[in-house]
Amino acid sequence: MRKIMLLMAALISPPLAWADADADIAYREAVMKVVGGHMKAMSTILKGQVHMADLAYHANSMRDVSLLAPQIFPAGSGEGKTAALAAIWDEPAEFKAAMDRYVNAAAGMADAVASQDMGQVGPAIQALGKSCKGCHDDYKSDD
Ligand code: HEC
Repeated sequence: MRKIMLLMAALISPPLAWADADADIAYREAVMKVVGGHMKAMSTILKGQVHMADLAYHANSMRDVSLLAPQIFPAGSGEGKTAALAAIWDEPAEFKAAMDRYVNAAAGMADAVASQDMGQVGPAIQALGKSCKGCHDDYKSDD
């Protein structure tokens, strides 16, 4: 009987019920950790003037992972244990603008590092950091 009930429930559930919000949230947090890792690595390199040869790797990887970022906020993934705020889905145009600023800043940082002009790298990483904070201030809860 239980089996039949489950089968019926599965048949009548709308497709959205199949979406696994927990997995979407876990993936988003994993991608953000990658983003955070490259950011930390780059600021550590620049502050300590160590492993300068690795800077391009992190800058290029940051640019690459920024291209995944617009896809890690699917509809329905605001429900559950997540620090992502509902405003992401309530104001999609503003959220997209914040995302675009980050994607552009990540490309700008990769270009700056490729230019090997340290005068460009400082402002570029500052702009990148501002783009993280800009989005987190409006769209991420602190806990
Ligand atoms: C367009 C919005 C946006 C941008 C830009 C953004 N983030 Fe995030 N970030 C979020 C949101 C929303 C969360 C919360 C995700 C969740 O809990 O589901 C988050 C979570 C994180 C986390 C925590 C991951 C975890 O759960 O352990 C780190 C670290 C992080 N971001 C780093 C960064 C860094 C560094 C940048 C910039 C280089 C950045 N983020 C840019 C929206 C953004």
